[in-house]
Amino acid sequence: MAVNKGQRPLIAANWKAHGDRHELSRWCEAVGTAPGNVDYLFLPPAVLLPMVQQLAPPFAWGGQDICPVEQGSHTGEVTAAMLLECGASHTLVGHSECRNLRADTDDRVAAKYAVAARAGLVPVLCVGETLAERESGHSEAVVSRQLAAVLATAPPPLPLVGAVLAYEPVWAIGTGCVASPAVVQQMHAALRRLWQSERGGESLRLLYGGSVKADNAAALACQPDVDGFLVGRASLVATEFLAIAKASIATTS
Ligand code: PGA
Repeated sequence: MAVNKGQRPLIAANWKAHGDRHELSRWCEAVGTAPGNVDYLFLPPAVLLPMVQQLAPPFAWGGQDICPVEQGSHTGEVTAAMLLECGASHTLVGHSECRNLRADTDDRVAAKYAVAARAGLVPVLCVGETLAERESGHSEAVVSRQLAAVLATAPPPLPLVGAVLAYEPVWAIGTGCVASPAVVQQMHAALRRLWQSERGGESLRLLYGGSVKADNAAALACQPDVDGFLVGRASLVATEFLAIAKASIATTS
């Protein structure tokens, strides 16, 4: 059944460390002719961003991560200014792969969020619990802590309008093991409550990420607090990504 949520779904493609110039141009062409009533966000590896800018597809693009300071001795990092120079409008912050592989603590994620927001980028904050945290009954406490750490360092003057939050349970990312619609709804509702208690009625889009595919998207998209998806592996194939978008439109408009 279609659910009217009052805002267009946002479907983001996180290519992680995949893709090349050839795949990129084919993908941008395919997704550029995609149906409306959905906002797309493309998150390719940073070195491909200048090529995206050159192709100027009719959707937004952004970084997969951001340097926690404006500039300095941070080998390997990409700053907010560099992302903006490539035409980026968004950046992921706190993706679990960065939390794990690059030892991103809550404080470092909060610093990244603040630097992105101050620069005028929309930070897409990723939160999510591990399997051990879920099994010990701490899922809500973990994501609440991760969100609270950011909210504590992002006082009202920061440009949080149009904020985006992605619930990405670590045990579902890249595993093929998708969270059930009921679990996703419960976690999203908890995150929205926390957001509203801190930020009042400021707009927030809540994305789900973790093994989203065309065949599970519709059941997730029709949950009242699911406003879109952050898609990893399945986003590499344009037809699969578009099928996910179509499933979201069908259930939310
Ligand atoms: P996945 O990745 O769709 O491959 O599980 C999601 C993500 O990490 O954003």
